[in-house]
Amino acid sequence: MGLYKKFVCQTRKPEGALGKMMVNGMNSGHAKMADWGISHLPKSEPSKILELGCGGGRNAGELANRFPSARVTAIDYSEVSVAKSKEYNKDLIASGRMSVKQGDVSDLRLPVDTYDIATAFETIYFWPGLEKCFTEVYRVLKPGGVFMIVNESDGMDDTSLKFEKIIDGMKCYTIEQIGAALKAAGFSEVTSDHYDGKPWITVIAVK
Ligand SMILES: C[S@@+](CC[C@H](N)C(=O)[O-])C[C@H]1O[C@@H](n2cnc3c(N)ncnc32)[C@H](O)[C@@H]1O
Repeated sequence: MGLYKKFVCQTRKPEGALGKMMVNGMNSGHAKMADWGISHLPKSEPSKILELGCGGGRNAGELANRFPSARVTAIDYSEVSVAKSKEYNKDLIASGRMSVKQGDVSDLRLPVDTYDIATAFETIYFWPGLEKCFTEVYRVLKPGGVFMIVNESDGMDDTSLKFEKIIDGMKCYTIEQIGAALKAAGFSEVTSDHYDGKPWITVIAVK
């Protein structure tokens, strides 16, 4: 496998030295898109937020800053992502406002009806079956809880479709495909937004 392919494949599950470089890059590279996504969350005072596929942890930190009464649980199945998230958020962890756990979104070892908000930035492309994973998210959200997906790809842009061919196990989705999987998993009130001039999308659903 060439170095370029090895590097871009780190987006799926960062590992080793290349994975460390990738999580650093994702923290800065996804910030603008993530903040645009976060601006869609309802003005509320959540007590528990779940950040799924947290990568380097920058977005988990931003959620904790924006919702000062919330405790954030960040999850990722990559050791490298978990380590970077812990380092990035060490003050929030020390103050008891965040925990970072290694785990797979397809089998969340978390209690039912627990979280007010769940978020997924730039990660559902790699999840092993949208409906199965969305059903897990549905299970752990409180009734009335909100699930927000934010993607750099609207499932139709040339750049992401090129990466889909390079990265094994990556799948880009349209808003319609995401909405259908959310409804099949039990969610209602699915709404979405498309960034003007870029293929960024935000999809929000309510349990
Ligand atoms: C492209 S990175 C995005 C990271 C971060 N959300 C961001 O926006 O910068 C995708 C992340 O999702 C994680 N991931 C992918 N599939 C996962 C799964 N099934 N369970 C948990 N984490 C997963 C990867 O390990 C990686 O850290």
